[in-house]
This record gives sequence, structure tokens and C-alpha cells, in this order.
Amino acid sequence: MEKDFLEKVLIDEEEIKQICKRLGAQITEDYKDKNLLVVGILKGSVPFLADLIKNIDLQCQIDFMSVSSYSGTQTTGSVSFKKDLDINPEGRDILIVEDILDSGLTLSYLKNVLIARNPASVKICTFLDKPENRKVDITAEYIGKSIPNEFVIGYGLDYNENYRNLSYVGVLSPKIYSE
Ligand code: IMP
Ligand code: MG
Repeated sequence: MEKDFLEKVLIDEEEIKQICKRLGAQITEDYKDKNLLVVGILKGSVPFLADLIKNIDLQCQIDFMSVSSYSGTQTTGSVSFKKDLDINPEGRDILIVEDILDSGLTLSYLKNVLIARNPASVKICTFLDKPENRKVDITAEYIGKSIPNEFVIGYGLDYNENYRNLSYVGVLSPKIYSE
């Protein structure tokens, strides 16, 4: 099937499945004596979070937060806060689940917001990591896959809100954003 928006497939469905299995098993082991609250960052984390939690064999709760920092393929450098948690995070072991760690601005902002609310711990699980583009000093405890500094779409990742529903991760054709 020809897809003109796609330069290439980077991570296929089978690899995604393996990544979620591996991370889920690791999280299950690390959080067995903890009070896990999984916090998904809307909207990009949704497909990953859905697959990941099915591989976490523990009693846990999930909640969502929403911030916005991106427009098109470039970071705007500013983060705005749109939706807060419903569950009180005080005393909880928070695992932030994100689609991609890029400049790090979004997650360092969110991590600080959560730390200020006295949780027992805050860790990060990101499906993708683009370490080359980091602007602040932040690392994720759980990483699905590190990728080069290319703009990717699919499996939750969007370009102007499109392509989140792809079942794989692909590199967006430069044709799309130079048009
Ligand atoms: P950061 O604040 O620069 O780390 O950006 C994190 C957010 O930017 C992610 O949650 C994504 O929404 C978006 N983002 C960063 N890189 C990409 C990409 O390659 N494709 C799609 N979205 C991206
Ligand atoms: Mg986005």
C-alpha cells in the first residue's frame, strides 16, 4: 500500500508489542511493593498507555494530564497546562507515561508540577526517546526505544493532530511539512 505521507516505517506492530511486554514486565517487578499511579500525558500517550497497562500485572490506577508545547514539527518552547489529574497524587508512586521525550521541556515541567504535590516517587516511562534534541537535563527510567532526531508519526504521535491512529511508528515525509 502506497502512503505518500510516509518516508519509512521505523517501528512495526510486532516490535511495539515486544517493547510493551518488556517494559510492562520491568514495571511489574519494580512496583510490586508500591502504590502505582500511572499518569498518561494526553493525547499522544493513549495507544502506548493502553498496551503498556495490559502488561503491568499489579493493582494500579490510571489518570491523565494534558499540556501543550508543540505546533507543527517545531517546539514552541513554552508549555501550557490544560487538564489536571482527577486522583490525588499525594503519597503515590507516580509513573508518567509519554509518547516521546524530545527537548525534555514538557516532561521536566510536568515532573516538577507533580513533585510539588508530595508523591512518594515520580518516574518516567517514554515510548520513544530522541536524546540528540535534549534542551534540559532529564532522562526517563523506562524507554521503549531511542531514535535519531527525525520527526515521527503514528502510535499516538501526531503531525498537526493527524496520524495518531497508525498502528506503527513512521518517519513523516518531508514533503508533508514543506508543502
Ligand atoms: P518535548 O517537550 O520537546 O520533549 O516534546 C514532547 C512532545 O513533543 C511530545 O509529547 C510530542 O507531542 C511532541 N513531539 C516531539 N517529537 C515529536 C515527533 O517526532 N513527532 C510527533 N510529536 C513529537
Ligand atoms: Mg504532540
